[in-house]
Amino acid sequence: MCGIVGYIGNKNACKILLEGLSRLEYRGYDSAGIALREKEKFNIIKAKGKLENLIKKIGNIDEIKSNCGIGHTRWATHGKPSENNAHPHNSQDGNIVVVHNGIIENYLEIKTNLIKKGYKFYSQTDTEVIAKLLDYYLKESNNDILEAINKFMLRVTGSYALAIMIKSRKSEIYVAKKDSPLIIGVNKDETFIASDVPAILKHTRNVYYLENNEMAKIIAGKVIFYNSYKTQIQKELCHISMSLSSAEKNGYEHFMLKEIHEQPLSVKSTINSYLKENKIQFACLNESKIKGYDNILILGCGSAYHVGVCLKYVFEKLCQIPVQVDYASEFRYRESILSKNTLVIVISQSGETADSLAGIKLAKLKNVDTLGIINVVGSSIAREVDYVLYTYAGPEISVATTKAYSAQLVLGYMLAIKFATVRKKINEEQYQTLIKQIKELPYQIEQILKDEKNIQHLSSQFINTKDIFLIGRNIDYAIVLEGSLKMKEVSYIHTEAYPAGELKHGTISLIEKDTLVIGSLTQENVIDKTFSNMLETKSRGAKLLAITSNEIDCNICDYTIKIPKTNDLFATSLAIIPLQIMSYYLSVLKGNDVDKPRNLAKSVTVE
Ligand code: G6P
Repeated sequence: MCGIVGYIGNKNACKILLEGLSRLEYRGYDSAGIALREKEKFNIIKAKGKLENLIKKIGNIDEIKSNCGIGHTRWATHGKPSENNAHPHNSQDGNIVVVHNGIIENYLEIKTNLIKKGYKFYSQTDTEVIAKLLDYYLKESNNDILEAINKFMLRVTGSYALAIMIKSRKSEIYVAKKDSPLIIGVNKDETFIASDVPAILKHTRNVYYLENNEMAKIIAGKVIFYNSYKTQIQKELCHISMSLSSAEKNGYEHFMLKEIHEQPLSVKSTINSYLKENKIQFACLNESKIKGYDNILILGCGSAYHVGVCLKYVFEKLCQIPVQVDYASEFRYRESILSKNTLVIVISQSGETADSLAGIKLAKLKNVDTLGIINVVGSSIAREVDYVLYTYAGPEISVATTKAYSAQLVLGYMLAIKFATVRKKINEEQYQTLIKQIKELPYQIEQILKDEKNIQHLSSQFINTKDIFLIGRNIDYAIVLEGSLKMKEVSYIHTEAYPAGELKHGTISLIEKDTLVIGSLTQENVIDKTFSNMLETKSRGAKLLAITSNEIDCNICDYTIKIPKTNDLFATSLAIIPLQIMSYYLSVLKGNDVDKPRNLAKSVTVE
């Protein structure tokens, strides 16, 4: 979703801002813009579409003499993608320029009031309202900027990360934040602003995380922080250890393919971080807590929700504890009943997904324990939960998640095993067997990746397919949910994931000659059942593809992908790999923008 960058120092700001924005492209956007301070004026340049359009419009970057500016990639919410709606936005007299990530929920009401006071608007965005409201408060508070920002923060509802420049404050940029991420990096004589670490990693590893309702004055090489009472505060400087190369393609054509291949490593690193002397150890969770929960609620969005669906089966089988899974966006608007011994687990790669963040805040209001399975260190959700367990997938750039999803799964399995042993649902021998099987997963994933060429070839046969149905029961259903989402996201083929037994209750009417039906057949106890459901579609003309580690009658299926055998509970980690590879190659063959699929954003910071 929208990306923010800012720079103040002694170098070419334009170059640094554009470089930063290109590192944030993965977040998804449909227009871009920058505002540069040039002597007495702001030079605002915006363009619809890709960053290249903006770069073309700027012309010779080296000729631009500016050491201070802000930039933005916009993912349209209020008003269509256009140059006019692109950020930065400015006040009428051009005194204030602003870039914004988030949504101002009461912008219409504020806009109406400002119009009554004589303000005129040129765009449909909520961000222009911010620029004009700040202008109003700045005048009202005799040019006291902190006072104006503070009044703004009290007046608006919604979420925002803001970077603001004021004409008269030549060597300053101001920032403020609520529920959208913002980091500030410092170097000797330079300060950087960004929505995410990769945007500034090339320049500095020393960053501050701005918290909700905080603001800061940014000057070259220095930051002064304030709380919402305008009182100066001290913040801890954090060191980022992430390698720059982890945010590069390293010879792969796309980030998605690179990340698919990084899965053995992401799974292994996650396992190794919590497995000490063959024992699963989570420092933040004590055993009496684990014993005390009588049910679990898992929240997530997109693929993270699918991890939750899989973990429901794993926890229920291993720990015999009731588990509910809910889309965070649904949970936040239903009357959920949580007993005081509920553990709410939120799963999120970015740690910034607005619905997941709101879901976990709501759970906290109900006085239950919250635990996050999060990839991005220091992210909003990671800081909100009572206990955080990080996945070690490294930075994930492709919008469609692969390696973070795999890391979430394995960490979830380990959590379930820990619960099962602490709650005495498994004995030592079973515990050791499960750990052994977990440790094999990275090698088994590697084995499937070796089959990439065959899966690529197979994918090419489905290039003209209009509809694909993916079916499975129990954990196989969790697998096809994610496989189906992957295909939709990157190949734009219409797919449906169905519990195999449900197909005949309506959806089977959509099966026609040559419709592709993919069956996930990994769960020993229901393979025959799912296989029968596949045959029901074959009798109606469908072509069948089976993904399995078991012996099935390959002559009946038109295509079969064999995967290695693991414990049924961990089969998702293996069966998903061919589906990811198929989605990737279908996308490539169709000429899609694999890493930045249309309309999608990696980090969805609006509801
Ligand atoms: C977006 C992404 C999905 C992701 C979902 C949840 O929709 O496109 O790939 O699964 O958000 O993201 P999170 O960062 O919370 O895991």
